[in-house]
Amino acid sequence: MLPITLVFAVGVVASKCSNLPHPPPEGLTWGSCPPTNNPDNVTIDCTTLKVLLDYADKKSNEQLTLNLVRYPATAEKKLGTVLTNFGGPGQEGLPNMPIYGPLLSPILKGQYDIVSWDPRGTGQTLRFQCVPPENITQILGSNGANASATAAEELWAEAAAAAELCFTKNKDHGHLIGQAYSARDMDRIVDALGGDKLKYWGLSGGTVLGAVYGALFPERVGSVLLDGVLNAHEYYGKTGEDESYAAADRAVRGFLEGRLAFPDRCAFYRTDRTVDQLEVELFNFLQNLKTNPIPILVPGSEEPAGFLRYWDVLSIFYLGMYRPGQFIDIATALDGLMQGNLTAAIEALTPAPATPNPDVVPPAPEAILGIRCGDKKPRGNSLDGMRPTYLDFEATTRWFLDFWGHSNHFACAQWKFDASERYEGNFNVETTNPILFLGNTYDPVTPFESAKNMSESFVNGALLHLNGFGHLSLSDESDCVNDAIYNFFVNGEYPEEGTICQPNLPIFHPDRKEIFG
Ligand SMILES: *[C@@H]1O[C@H](CO)[C@@H](O)[C@H](O)[C@H]1NC(C)=O
Ligand SMILES: *[C@@H]1O[C@H](CO)[C@@H](O)[C@H](O)[C@H]1NC(C)=O
Ligand SMILES: *[C@@H]1O[C@H](CO)[C@@H](O)[C@H](O)[C@H]1NC(C)=O
Ligand SMILES: *[C@@H]1O[C@H](CO)[C@@H](O)[C@H](O)[C@H]1NC(C)=O
Ligand SMILES: *[C@@H]1O[C@H](CO)[C@@H](O)[C@H](O)[C@H]1NC(C)=O
Repeated sequence: MLPITLVFAVGVVASKCSNLPHPPPEGLTWGSCPPTNNPDNVTIDCTTLKVLLDYADKKSNEQLTLNLVRYPATAEKKLGTVLTNFGGPGQEGLPNMPIYGPLLSPILKGQYDIVSWDPRGTGQTLRFQCVPPENITQILGSNGANASATAAEELWAEAAAAAELCFTKNKDHGHLIGQAYSARDMDRIVDALGGDKLKYWGLSGGTVLGAVYGALFPERVGSVLLDGVLNAHEYYGKTGEDESYAAADRAVRGFLEGRLAFPDRCAFYRTDRTVDQLEVELFNFLQNLKTNPIPILVPGSEEPAGFLRYWDVLSIFYLGMYRPGQFIDIATALDGLMQGNLTAAIEALTPAPATPNPDVVPPAPEAILGIRCGDKKPRGNSLDGMRPTYLDFEATTRWFLDFWGHSNHFACAQWKFDASERYEGNFNVETTNPILFLGNTYDPVTPFESAKNMSESFVNGALLHLNGFGHLSLSDESDCVNDAIYNFFVNGEYPEEGTICQPNLPIFHPDRKEIFG
C-alpha cells in the first residue's frame, strides 16, 4: 500500500504492455463449481478462462487457466455483470463468492451477475504457499516489534527466514503474480464476457486492483466502485501501509463513546466513568499484558492451561473494530478481562468448530505476502535501515502498532521476488468514466483518508463518504450508500460532490441488523 513519484503516468505506463497480442476472446460456458467451501450451498456457477501466463514476456504464448465463479443475477431483468475481488490481496474468489454474492447482489437489486475469480497466487492458480497451513505462524508471525525489548530483532530474523523459504518454495512462479498481472487478467475477463467496459466493485485490497486497472486501461473504465480503499501509493512505495491505521485510533474512540447512547447494551458502561478514563484504563491494561500475561486456570489443576497474552487480546480488539456486529462481544470480553473474568475473552479466541470439506484445499494465507511484497518497490537490508519506516508507522496508531507486528513490513523488506510487471506510475490518470472511491470514517484498516487520497490522485476521481464504522460499506448498513451504489451501477450516476452518508442506525442500537455478525 504505497507512493510513487512519476508525474505523467498515463501514456508512459499504459503503453508498456497494452499492445501485446491477445488470444481471441473465448465465450464462457458456466457449469458447476469444483469443490469449494460453501456450507450453505449458495447457488454459484463456475467456468475457466485461458489467459497469457506472462504478459510481460513478449516471446511466450504460454497459457494460464483462471478459475471464475459467478453468483447469478436473481432479478428477471438482467443488466449484465459486475466483477469483484475480495481483497487481501490474496483472498480467493471461489470460497468468498458464497459469502459476498448474497451481500452485494441485493444492493444491485439482483440485476447483475456478480463474477470473480481466484487471482494469481491463490487457489490453484500459481498458488503461493510456503508452509503447510498449520505452520503459518512461522511465516506470518504474530508479535509486534514493540511487544518486548527483543521483539524487533527476532521478527527481523524470522522474516528473513520466511522470505528465503517462500522464495525456495515458489521459485518458478513467484514473479508472475501481483496487481498488474491481475489487472490484465481482469481485462481478459471483460473481453470474455463480451463487455465493452469494466463494471467492478472492488473490496479492500481489491481496490488496488481497481486502481491499477484504471491506470493501465483508462479507456475501459465503465462503472468502477472501490469500497474500503487502500492507499495504492503506499501499497507500492512503502514496505508497510501507514495510512491504513490513520483511523484505527478514531475507531476505538468512537467505539468507546458509542456505548454511552445505549448503556444497557454495553458491558463497558459505568455511570461513574468518563470515556477518557475508560480509554486510559483500557490502554494501560493492554500495555501491562505485554509483561504480565494472564494465566488461564482450570478448576482442579494447579498448572495454568495456558496464558492470555498481549497479542491475543490486542487482536480480538483490533479485528473487532472491523465489524460493528461484534462490538458488544468485544466490549464484554475486554470488560471481563479488566475485571478478572476470562470467560468471554477465551470464547472470542476459540475458533468456531468448523467442519472442513475434505475435498477442499484450504487457502494459503501467505498469498498476501506473495502478491503484496512482490509488488512493493522498497527493500531494506538491515533492521537499522528500517527504523525510519517503522517510526513513521509508529506515529500512525497508538493502539494497534503491534497488531501487524511489522512482520509484514519486515518480510516485504527482505523479499526475494519482484513482480515481473509492476505498476510504476502514480495514478495521476484520467479515466473515461471517473472511478468512485468509498470510505468509512471509522474503518480501522482502509480509512476514509485513503479513499480521499486516491480520488484526488486520479485526475477525475469521485468520492463518497460513509460516516460509519467497520471495514467496507457493508459493515454499517446505510440506505444512502446503497442507493448511491445502485444508481452508480444502474444509471451511471455519481453522488453529489461532498456527499456524506449516515448509517441507518448508530452502533449498539438494538434494532441494527448486522450483516457481518
Ligand atoms: C448442502 O449440500 C450438502 C450436500 O448435498 C448437504 O449435505 C448439506 O446438508 C447442505 N447444507 C445446507 C445448509 O443445506
Ligand atoms: C511444521 O511445524 C512442525 C512443528 O514445528 C515441524 O516439525 C515441521 O517440520 C514443519 N513443517 C514445515 C514444512 O515447515
Ligand atoms: C514501545 O514499548 C515501550 C515499553 O512498553 C513503550 O514505553 C513505548 O511507548 C512503546 N512505543 C510505542 C511507539 O508505542
Ligand atoms: C464472566 O463473564 C461471562 C461472560 O460474559 C458471564 O456470563 C459470567 O456471568 C461472568 N462471571 C462472573 C463471575 O461475573
Ligand atoms: C496520497 O498518499 C501518498 C502516500 O502517502 C502521498 O505521497 C500523496 O501526496 C497523497 N496524495 C494526495 C492527493 O493526497
